[in-house]
Amino acid sequence: MLKIDYTNVMSDIIGERDGILEEEFYEYTHIVQEIHEKIHEEREKSFYFTKLPYQDTTNIKLLANQIRENFDYFVVIGIGGSALGNQMLQDAINGPYYNDFQFPKLYILDNVDPEKFGSILDMIDLRKTVFNVITKSGSTVETIANFSIIYTTLKETLGENYKNHLIFTTDPEKGFLRKFGMQEGITMLDIPPEVGGRFSVLSPVGLLSAAVCGIDIDSLLEGAKKADNLCMQTSNVFENPAYLIGLIHYIACEKKGKSISVMMPYLERLSSFVDWYRQLWAESLGKEGFGQTPLKAIGTIDQHSQIQLFREGPKDKIITFLKVENSLRDFKIPSEIPSDISYLSGHTLKEILDIELLGTRAALTKSKVPNLTITIDQLNPYNLGMLIYIYELATGFTGYLYKINPFDQPAVEEGKNFAYGLMGRKGYEDKLREFKELDKEKYILQVD
Ligand code: PA5
Repeated sequence: MLKIDYTNVMSDIIGERDGILEEEFYEYTHIVQEIHEKIHEEREKSFYFTKLPYQDTTNIKLLANQIRENFDYFVVIGIGGSALGNQMLQDAINGPYYNDFQFPKLYILDNVDPEKFGSILDMIDLRKTVFNVITKSGSTVETIANFSIIYTTLKETLGENYKNHLIFTTDPEKGFLRKFGMQEGITMLDIPPEVGGRFSVLSPVGLLSAAVCGIDIDSLLEGAKKADNLCMQTSNVFENPAYLIGLIHYIACEKKGKSISVMMPYLERLSSFVDWYRQLWAESLGKEGFGQTPLKAIGTIDQHSQIQLFREGPKDKIITFLKVENSLRDFKIPSEIPSDISYLSGHTLKEILDIELLGTRAALTKSKVPNLTITIDQLNPYNLGMLIYIYELATGFTGYLYKINPFDQPAVEEGKNFAYGLMGRKGYEDKLREFKELDKEKYILQVD
């Protein structure tokens, strides 16, 4: 179960300057209907991610079981959409401390930070490790650089047996990694060609590492399927959770000046969900001068850090609280505590967490900061699948409201091209020249 409470974004609660009038939703009825039809037309193309819940997971589960039986470590080598979802699934279902207690341990190598690289190598035993190299394009610098070192090290250490320690997840036809994998006879999984990185967590990209760590991926997809059935059936924003979230954020941004979207879960297992959302929202919608900046906050920690700004700073934010009704564990404050703090006694930590959310929400509402609360009864694979699907569809839908392409990332490509030029890649000589014109160290203050 998932519930969206959007009371505190409405104008009758927080006033017309910051809140949304019910009539304002109706102004978009026609355009929402048009987008809804377009999404249906594009289900085999740009919106193919909506079909991922229906895929056959037999091979992924078989492979995952073999890995679970034979290996102790599973390392994902990827970046962006080829890594953030893996961490998100793992933390949300197994918790951020899983590696301290369980096998196979999951590590995500998503940077070319040599210290991180070295630390992960220190923690694993190559002979008991599978490396899952994930890259849709098959050529992302960071991923390929990390892979190259691992590949050579594996070959040196294990000889011909190195092949059993590698799995490639990539485009079925294109890119260096596919070609190389075929040449070397490496086990490979396909990323559907129509699905871009940040929309791919429910494809083999996210599913293999999840299954290796014991997450029920069928239940995850069942939840996504449920959300798909609901969302594909109606264009009525008051019945379609993805369109409701999208339209609220669009109106808040475009008409009320809320250019920052804060996501604030009150359960730390959802911390990586915000990292995943941040990429989805930023990279999909930040184009042609449009977009809304996603900002991460964690309850209650950020009550003691950012809430001051959210309440009394610029009125440029809309907040989404994520609440989980039932936590896996809870602890009661004992009754034998000093009388000065006896108001706490009898309460559990979860109760305090929930009460703190209520208090913060009321304070923000009092300051006319629009906020919505998404409540999930339990943070299990089924509900997580629903939430993922809803946010992916909300993002695609909102992109179409902005009339931009939510599925490309031209600005990311530009940065990659400059990097290729700097590394001396053939064909990128123009980029190196352009870089030299742009990058001037002209005004410097040095402190020794
Ligand atoms: O969402 C996207 O498409 C990007 O963030 C990519 O996931 C990221 O750049 C990594 O690309 P690739 O999977 O091709 O290595």
